[in-house]
This record gives sequence, structure tokens and C-alpha cells, in this order.
Amino acid sequence: MNLVIKSDYESLSLAAAQAIMELSKQKKEVNICLPTGTTPKGMYKALVDLHQAGQADFSFINWFTLDEYLGIPLSSPFSCYQQITELFYEPTGISKDRIFTFNSEAKDLDAEAARYNAIIEHMGGLDLAIVGIGMNGHVGFNEPGSSANAPTRVIDLHERTLVQSKKYFTDDHPIPTKGITLGMKTLLQSKEVFVVANGEEKADIVKVAIHGPVSDDVPVSHFQTHAGATFLLDTLAASKL
Ligand code: GLP
Repeated sequence: MNLVIKSDYESLSLAAAQAIMELSKQKKEVNICLPTGTTPKGMYKALVDLHQAGQADFSFINWFTLDEYLGIPLSSPFSCYQQITELFYEPTGISKDRIFTFNSEAKDLDAEAARYNAIIEHMGGLDLAIVGIGMNGHVGFNEPGSSANAPTRVIDLHERTLVQSKKYFTDDHPIPTKGITLGMKTLLQSKEVFVVANGEEKADIVKVAIHGPVSDDVPVSHFQTHAGATFLLDTLAASKL
């Protein structure tokens, strides 16, 4: 794994955007998985700015949602898919043909997880996975206890995730208790991975993720073993390393 530390959130966001820009310049078809949460918002803004300045051509990229909440419609503003749509797909006019996402309203969700993963495999796997870190060390919704072989699947959200999720929902909207996520296995097979974290509140989990043992208890620690993984941090998130 590699470690890159940036001075502030803006330069961190630009560096994450740059990883996508590099792949887009190859002008060949690539597969990228995108996260939600507060961490990647600056990256999406940087990508939209680059696109508006005419410096970005995303037409060769296939986009995959990393994870999704269950029990809310895909059209809800709280769904991960809608968040990425609002922040990135819509402002850049990305073609719907290039956007892949979990059908979180499918009747058979186990079959849906398998279907979504099979699409990625069929398309040659991920070239780049951009992921955040949950306060409990989760990746996507690979909660503590997820092994390096964990498949793409439906999962019960961890207690800590339910607390963390409060900030994404309004008081009158119940927080979903289940999610569907790309598995650690698929993410660890991605050629490149950027694990992005900013802010002081992530400093403790970042320390465990990078200096702690590789452990299913802290799923993000599995990226220590990945030669193409980069932990991309700001100085605050890196302050306890
Ligand atoms: C959420 C999402 C993850 C995200 C993580 C960090 O629960 N399921 O995909 O990366 O937690 O969120 P944030 O960036 O808001 O800290």
C-alpha cells in the first residue's frame, strides 16, 4: 500500500479527482466505483469544475455505485445513487449507459447482489475503486467481521454505522438498518484503490487501518496487503500516524 498526505481537504479532493482524470486520459474503457458520504463531496466538485472547464472527458468510463441503502427507493434523495447523481452524474451529463447501480428495490436482493457483481466481473473487474472509511473501519458497507473474501451482498448495518448515518438523514426520516455492498473480494481485486479520509474524527480509525494488524475486525486494514492501494489523507486524518 501507499500513503499520500495532503495539507487540506481541497488538495485531498483534487488528488482523488486526479486519479480519475488519469484513467480518463487513457481514452479506453475503464471501470470505476464511487462512494458516497461527506468525504467525496470535494472530489465530485473538483471533477465537475474540471468538466466545466473543458478539461475532462469521461466518455470512456463505466461508473459503479459502491454501496446502497435498502428499504428506501432508488429515487429518494437519500439513496447513494441519487447522491452521486446530484453531485456528479447530472452536472457532468454522464450517459445513463455508463452508469451501473444496485437495484435496491429488487424482490430478490441476494440475486441482485450476485447480478451486480457479475456485471463487474463480465466487464473485466474494477480498474479503480474510490472508497471512504467508516468510523468502525468499514468499507462501503463491509462492516466489521468482513473478510478479504467477503462477497458482494446484503448486510445488516453495524450499530456504529447507524449512529454515523444520522448525519445523512433528516430527523423525520428513519435510518435504514440494512444495506447492499460490493464485497471486499471485488474491491481487493480492483487494480487501484484510493482509500480517502479527512478530518480529525478519522485520525483514530486511520491509525488502526494503517498501523494495526490486518484484521476482519477492521475491514479497511485489508488494503494494507494491496500493492495498488493508496491511503489518501489530509493532515488531520493523518495526525495520529
Ligand atoms: C458510509 C458509507 C461509506 C462511506 C463511509 C464514510 O456509511 N456507506 O461508503 O465511505 O460511511 O462516510 P463519510 O465520508 O461521511 O465519513
